[in-house]
Amino acid sequence: MNVKKDFPIFNAHPELVYLDSGATSLKPQPVIDAIVAYYSTYSANIHRGLYKISEKASAEYEDTRSVVARFINAPSPNEIIFTSGTTESINLLTSTIGGSSVGQGDEVVTTVMEHHANFVPWQQLAFNTGADFKVIDINENHELGIMKEDGHIDLTNIITKKTKIFTITLVSNTLGTINPVKEIIAAVKAINPSVITVVDAAQAAPHLSIDVQDLGCDFLAFSGHKMLGPTGVGVLWGRKQLLDSMPPYQLGGDMINEVSLEKTTYAKTPHKFEAGTPHIAGVIGLKAAITYLQQIGLDTIAKHEHALASYAIDQINKEFGDEVAMLGPSDMGQRAGIVTFTFGTIHAHDISQILDDNNIAVRAGHHCTMPLHTRLDITASTRASFYVYNTQEDVDKLVMGLKKVKQTLS
Ligand code: ALA
Repeated sequence: MNVKKDFPIFNAHPELVYLDSGATSLKPQPVIDAIVAYYSTYSANIHRGLYKISEKASAEYEDTRSVVARFINAPSPNEIIFTSGTTESINLLTSTIGGSSVGQGDEVVTTVMEHHANFVPWQQLAFNTGADFKVIDINENHELGIMKEDGHIDLTNIITKKTKIFTITLVSNTLGTINPVKEIIAAVKAINPSVITVVDAAQAAPHLSIDVQDLGCDFLAFSGHKMLGPTGVGVLWGRKQLLDSMPPYQLGGDMINEVSLEKTTYAKTPHKFEAGTPHIAGVIGLKAAITYLQQIGLDTIAKHEHALASYAIDQINKEFGDEVAMLGPSDMGQRAGIVTFTFGTIHAHDISQILDDNNIAVRAGHHCTMPLHTRLDITASTRASFYVYNTQEDVDKLVMGLKKVKQTLS
């Protein structure tokens, strides 16, 4: 795959080896062009102006809803809500359906490998409502402990008749584990069909094809900035019937039907959930990002990253052996393009600093997964995450950089 030329940051920094796409991705020229075109040629508000540039802005914004719906195979564009990102999408849920469906003695279930964005809001919801907050552990292979060797999913004592919410990441941002979410959701619903199921697809949507109907979930959230789009824009998909039954998230302009001194009635889904002027340029940029990703093909992207991650794990293991402890499943078939490790007693921040001295950008720390790091009995790790613009040469430079880390610090 030769797409580096599409990413202008490499003109500004030709030596950059960017291995932190799990945190945010770089932006290709068509995305930047789409944002610039909005601001420079039709930068009007949406749904309000009865004039040409506003109508164009509204059309582009609403067309993105259809593009996103097709991208995740949602039954209708009206099930797509634009948010500021995965974090806001999940907070929208905890503040709306969370409040109305969870009470004292109920259960909210998640996993220990969640990003804080899909952990803290649910933990707080359980705390506020008096619900039981249940966290599924991982096994030695760094997949969920509910996965048994014979392929069976064992949810004994986890999902019960009291469970109201089950929320899970599709791809772990730290371990790289791809969870078999379709099978897990089917197993959850087999025990209790009324459980509301939520999928955090922040690390999945940029890299794997997603089909919400096939997954069988009720809600799915992801961010634009990790999939070549702008920061500050994200998506919440939900089943129409559930969205229609939920109260609004924020109150204000553009989410109303009628306002009088006595009362206010709300707009229909999805506009009910999009109060105020949204991130119009961001949404338009997201459409360009999805179009760009689809031109390459999600399957091609997944294969490319998988090959890079496999190569990186092989090279690092070959060079450093037991000095490096890899996180994540040993079976490459269960992993996305994320390679996270600890390196002897060398602190991840020192590793990152020396790699940065060599123009290699990785993430060091707990990656917003403190419960997972505590479970693994480590305080920090180093993460290299791959995307469309990375090459085998980037991996070779990472290994060279790690050799320098070893020479300098051990
Ligand atoms: N969620 C982002 C990451 O994993 C910030 O790095």
